[in-house]
Amino acid sequence: FSAPTMPVAKRHDWLSTLEDADVANLNARCSKIIEGADAKPYNRDWMDKCEGKARIVAQPATTEEVSAVLAYCNEKRLAVTTQGGKTGLVGGSVPVHDEVILSTTRLNTIEGLDKDTGVVTCGAGVVLETLDAYLREHDFVAPLDLGAAGTCTIGGNLATNAGGVRFVRYGSLRGACVGLEFVKADGTVVDCARTSLRKDNTGYALPQLLIGSEGTLGVITKCCIACPSLSPFVNVAWLACNSFDEVRKVLTTARSTLGEILSAVEFLDRGALDATLRAHPDIEDPLETDAPFRVLVETAGCDATHDAAKLERFLEAIDVEDGCVAPTTSAMNALWTLREGVSDAMTSRGFVYKYDVSLPPSTLYDLVEKTTERLEHLDVDVAGYGHVGDANLHLNVCDVTGYREEVHALLEPWVYEEVARSRGSISAEHGVGQCKPEYLHLNKSVEAMDLMGSLKKVMDPHLILNPYKVLPASVL
Ligand code: FAD
Ligand code: MLT
Ligand code: ZN
Repeated sequence: FSAPTMPVAKRHDWLSTLEDADVANLNARCSKIIEGADAKPYNRDWMDKCEGKARIVAQPATTEEVSAVLAYCNEKRLAVTTQGGKTGLVGGSVPVHDEVILSTTRLNTIEGLDKDTGVVTCGAGVVLETLDAYLREHDFVAPLDLGAAGTCTIGGNLATNAGGVRFVRYGSLRGACVGLEFVKADGTVVDCARTSLRKDNTGYALPQLLIGSEGTLGVITKCCIACPSLSPFVNVAWLACNSFDEVRKVLTTARSTLGEILSAVEFLDRGALDATLRAHPDIEDPLETDAPFRVLVETAGCDATHDAAKLERFLEAIDVEDGCVAPTTSAMNALWTLREGVSDAMTSRGFVYKYDVSLPPSTLYDLVEKTTERLEHLDVDVAGYGHVGDANLHLNVCDVTGYREEVHALLEPWVYEEVARSRGSISAEHGVGQCKPEYLHLNKSVEAMDLMGSLKKVMDPHLILNPYKVLPASVL
């Protein structure tokens, strides 16, 4: 089936249209410009839901080239969408109309690692998996990991403040980023990487403004990330639970018995498990029970004996339907494939309505149950999974017949209003992009949104950076 593209915001009439002379000028400022049919793949997003009409993709190799491209576009009022690995799940990384795409993938130099501090310095276009492999060679690891690690860039991770499966252990990327270089809309290069030490209270934390800004305030070109030491001894337990209350008890027991070696707590419900098992016929669920939930608990530590003793105490303390510990690295990887494969399994099966929310753990799974009930008559697949250790639920509704207005209308704004009623977040980790600006008011006060609009106008007075994303038109 062919997924329809989402309805889009009206084009801003203050923005210019790219002319042949602009293309010639940008060619003179940037060492690689992609045009015509070759630009097409950069226009369509990962989920196959959003499609832009950019005529060119500028692929600068240096910060100076980024600056030159932005200075020109700012002067000519040409809109720009920054793109990293294009794995974003809210339509933020593709143009809405004819914005110039600025791809960061050639800013891919790893400058080095300070082994005293664990701080790595690299270009924004470095792929997360490549960065992690480099760090592992030096006995460090990246402070985040996610299913798209082989494609997403560290700049994109910062721009979305990506969470992922290690959040429960290492916390937000906001804490790990200790230096940033970025380019403002007018081409000014702002160097906030003069010190790359954890402690630096010299006034406003400017890098924090860029983190989570989804390409609307500037282009991140370089970053310094504080990385933890590698914990070489890894164990993965796979547990079957009969209720979400049982899942919650596994989480609290994991926290209290495993302490500092706990490195992930993920959950899948029956809908998610069935989808990922169908997509991976080579992998079997090691637990034969029909129990409706699976929980993946991972430990990573520095002392195999100590870690094993803690894991043993954890397993003794929990009361679940069934469980096992992966006996080999390949068994561990298979369990991770099942968990991280849910997203692609759903997307490849049909049209997916995707919700990424945080909710109080005590009512987190109610949303999946209510959604199932609400859509019962429509023959769609509902799946709940995610980072239960961070109270982050991924609710996916998959329709194998394709997009249906009827399904969409039952889901939105209802899902977001349900989340807001429970004082949860309508975007726990994926961001706002072009999918959610009109629902931002459910989480942000009028005053907070106005201040966001004011900051946008200070950083990007001509509003050329990633228009139609994050901010509702009412605050611009
Ligand atoms: P892109 O998709 O290219 O861009 C994302 C946004 O950042 C866009 O708004 C873009 O304009 C902006 N941007 C990109 N680079 C820059 C830059 N250098 N400067 C300024 N702005 C920039 N997310 C999670 O949080 N947790 C997960 O567990 C998770 N798992 C995922 C699993 C899969 C299979 C997939 C497909 C996605 C997943 N994501 C997850 C979504 C997540 O947002 C991205 O994977 C990642 O953070 C985006 O990086 P990217 O380089 O692909 O950015
Ligand atoms: C995940 O945790 O698998 C990702 O955030 C992707 C998704 O939500 O599908
Ligand atoms: Zn996630």
